[in-house]
Amino acid sequence: MNICVIGTGYVGLVTGVCLAEIENNVICVDNIKEKINKLASGESTIYEPGIEELLKKNIKNNRLSFTTDISKAINRSEVIYICVGTPSLFNGQANLKFIEDVATEIGKYINGNKIIVNKSTVPIGSGDWVSMVISESIERNNPVKDIDFHVVSNPEFLREGSAISDTLFPDRIVIGSSSKEVVDKMTELYKPIIDQSFDCPKGIERLIPKGKKIPVVKSDLTSAEMIKYAANSFLATKVSFINEIANICEKVGADILKVSEGMGLDRRIAPEFLNAGIGWGGSCFPKDIQALSYIAGEYGIIPQILNSVINVNTGQRQKIVKKVQDELKIVKGKTIAILGISFKPDTDDVRESPSIDIMNNLAALGARIKFYDPIVKVKPEALDKKVLICNDAYTAAADSELLLLATEWKEFLKLDFIKIKELMSKPIIIDGRNFLDRDYLEKKGFKYIGIGR
Ligand code: UGA
Repeated sequence: MNICVIGTGYVGLVTGVCLAEIENNVICVDNIKEKINKLASGESTIYEPGIEELLKKNIKNNRLSFTTDISKAINRSEVIYICVGTPSLFNGQANLKFIEDVATEIGKYINGNKIIVNKSTVPIGSGDWVSMVISESIERNNPVKDIDFHVVSNPEFLREGSAISDTLFPDRIVIGSSSKEVVDKMTELYKPIIDQSFDCPKGIERLIPKGKKIPVVKSDLTSAEMIKYAANSFLATKVSFINEIANICEKVGADILKVSEGMGLDRRIAPEFLNAGIGWGGSCFPKDIQALSYIAGEYGIIPQILNSVINVNTGQRQKIVKKVQDELKIVKGKTIAILGISFKPDTDDVRESPSIDIMNNLAALGARIKFYDPIVKVKPEALDKKVLICNDAYTAAADSELLLLATEWKEFLKLDFIKIKELMSKPIIIDGRNFLDRDYLEKKGFKYIGIGR
């Protein structure tokens, strides 16, 4: 099929690349020329394992191209994906400005009957609103008035860091539309994934056996939009829940690792998202949970669980600062090393990263902060200007009185901790992800402080 993907952020780029990989002709659109030029030359604009190889391969096969010309892209496509951002406004509401701009452009240039796929995470009911914006734009801007188009909600469930695998080997595909014809067409588009009949690209592990069917949830538009918010909110709830249990474990002397293991083996609970730590962040959970809470408020519902999930998460970041204070007593003037600034490993994304919040709070208390991250090499805007960036973990550790592991990058497992101990002025480690080998570090003379153990 001829497909156009509007927006080349995480979701748009991964969607475009994977749809090309299952043999569609995909054209990706963005209004940032430098980004399009870079992508067209086969260079990825995001750090995501496996993406650059697929990008290069599909450009070479002529199945994937990039443009800033939205009219050309819309004109030649049967299916148009909207993959632009929906960041939070100050009150938690999702900002739909980018979606509105794209819908207006679609209305202006649409030249025949097409399917418009909403992949961006949008407030419940936005599918109908997008239809309205497109219709109004057709009325105002398009010489051809008699155009039949359908908006379908097809939420994505990809995680940064494993986005390609999550897209090619999903747990389910959700298609929300009132038109059977549109649902059938979308099902046909995803057939190679639903049937797991595509050849697994080189370098990507086949996670689901060839031929095994992927469940498809066919629903109305509103339910599909709700599935996305509810899924992210539930996952964030799981993390906040385990963090709260970890805090109780610390008081009663239980070990959260054993507690998570014992809980996760219950098939009704499942082991995923039971890793206690410094809390959740990223470009999705914070914005989506705020947005769902806001939507509930619009209907007079006080979402008690969602609000508590947010509060526990904020508290978890403060708890880490408190742990540092408990160890160092006076934080002012002390040097602290932080390992990891991305909100989770295998991504360069620092949006709403708990690590940044913790560093800013410690810097505000007067600490001298040095951080190292394997991928993030530029200080994010949101970071306190006084925080220093280091080229390696050893430079960060040098002269530090405490080291906090904030992101569980695999590379940190291979660090020479004997050297780190020699470099630090006091051998104290707070392992914010329960990631390092406690017994080994204690044997080597570190004071090890985990989360919930
Ligand atoms: C999340 C969802 O997992 C995806 O299904 C969804 O498609 C995506 O949001 C989105 O809406 O676009 P992502 O934000 O990439 O994906 O990251 P996750 O792997 O879900 O992690 C979120 C946060 O929770 C991270 O800060 C991570 O460190 C934290 N986390 C996760 C924990 O603290 N403990 C856990 O056990 C799991």
